[in-house]
Amino acid sequence: MEKQTILIVDDIAMNLDLLEQELWDDYILVRAENGEQALQQADLCEPDCILLDVTMPGMGGLEVVKKLRESEKHLATPYTPVILVTALSEMSDQVRGLAAGADDYITKPWEPEDLHARLKVALRIGELQKALARERDELQQALSNLQATQAQLLHSEKMAALGKLVAGIAHELNNPIGFIYANMDHFSRYVGELQAVCEHASVGPEQKGRAERAFQTLNRLIESCTNGAQRIKQIVLGLRTFSRLDEAEVKAVDVHEGIESTITLLAHQMKDRITLHKTYGDLPLVECYAGQLNQVLMNLLTNAIDAIEGQGDVYITTQIDGETVQIAIRDTGIGISEENLQKIFDPFFTTKDVGKGTGLGLSISYGIVQKHGGEIRVESAQGEGTTFTVVLPLRMSVEAGEDAEGDRVE
Ligand SMILES: Nc1ncnc2c1ncn2[C@@H]1O[C@H](COP(=O)(O)OP(=O)(O)OP(=O)(O)O)[C@@H](O)[C@H]1O
Ligand SMILES: [Mg+2]
Repeated sequence: MEKQTILIVDDIAMNLDLLEQELWDDYILVRAENGEQALQQADLCEPDCILLDVTMPGMGGLEVVKKLRESEKHLATPYTPVILVTALSEMSDQVRGLAAGADDYITKPWEPEDLHARLKVALRIGELQKALARERDELQQALSNLQATQAQLLHSEKMAALGKLVAGIAHELNNPIGFIYANMDHFSRYVGELQAVCEHASVGPEQKGRAERAFQTLNRLIESCTNGAQRIKQIVLGLRTFSRLDEAEVKAVDVHEGIESTITLLAHQMKDRITLHKTYGDLPLVECYAGQLNQVLMNLLTNAIDAIEGQGDVYITTQIDGETVQIAIRDTGIGISEENLQKIFDPFFTTKDVGKGTGLGLSISYGIVQKHGGEIRVESAQGEGTTFTVVLPLRMSVEAGEDAEGDRVE
């Protein structure tokens, strides 16, 4: 069995020599001649037990124990057993030492059997405490893994439920808005005919004037209703495209259609505040899970909008580069600090207020893009803005596709 390490601390060299002679055969010994040295050595060699003299010039034994137990500073030592070595007359020190965090004490001059027996007990306690701490850490780790998985599940359930809801509403709205839009045309034509008839009717000039004004108003109403119906049609189309969430197979998708449908959904968040600049390249269809790609676009665009305080610009650029397409979303927002840039893809990392951001948008987007065999790049300058670039292969490789099939990110 490997020898255990004992740190022996005493300001009198002869006392250290005595301990050394007694313990040399069974343990690895490390010496310290004052309190400061004791703390340094405890940090360096992480002993399994410390034999600590109480009365020393400078930092005394009790202070050393207190410092050792401040776990923040001495990560390795909060559980190291400490045995105080005291003169008989220091009874009150022994009690105070135990209260400060020491585990036991022996009195000088010590008996060899006593010393060995107490060391063994202390070492056993130390082992048990270390094992407990290890198990506690493992449990803590398992708990936070579980919490992370649970939150991811909740988020994906939420997105799936949102997809279903949106799909349902879009489906229900599609027919009525279809016939309203189509009927507006007929409506306008029949009103025109009616107007022509009225113009030839034999009525007085006052009646004619009234009819003309009524027709003018009617035409304006028809125009604004047609515009309104057109807008609803666009929104329904946007909802339908977006809600392709549960489409499980890979399809050849028009990326621009996905971008447009996402913009439609976010339009109310941008309003007059954000100016959108689109530079679309001539892209072929891209093989991907359409609903998932829309989620990535939604997350990136939402982040861009959120990053802009007051007025600002968002630039969406698409282009083809070899066998990949690149979708860049640049904003003129607050930017991301060097330090945060390392963490933004971590699940739950958010700088947004409680209840506003879950910190999952980017980590989920990252997962989705990875499963498509692509990558997300980010460049940012604080106070200037941020660019996220999604690079997607035109064709998903077989492995990427299978992988995504087996473990889908919603
Ligand atoms: N375009 C951006 N500009 C500035 N900071 C950004 C931008 N995109 C992401 N971030 C930073 O990265 C963090 C993590 O983004 P992420 O999308 O993962 O979570 P979130 O937006 O905070 O919350 P959620 O997307 O879950 O609602 C954000 O809180 C923000 O600090
Ligand atoms: Mg986000």
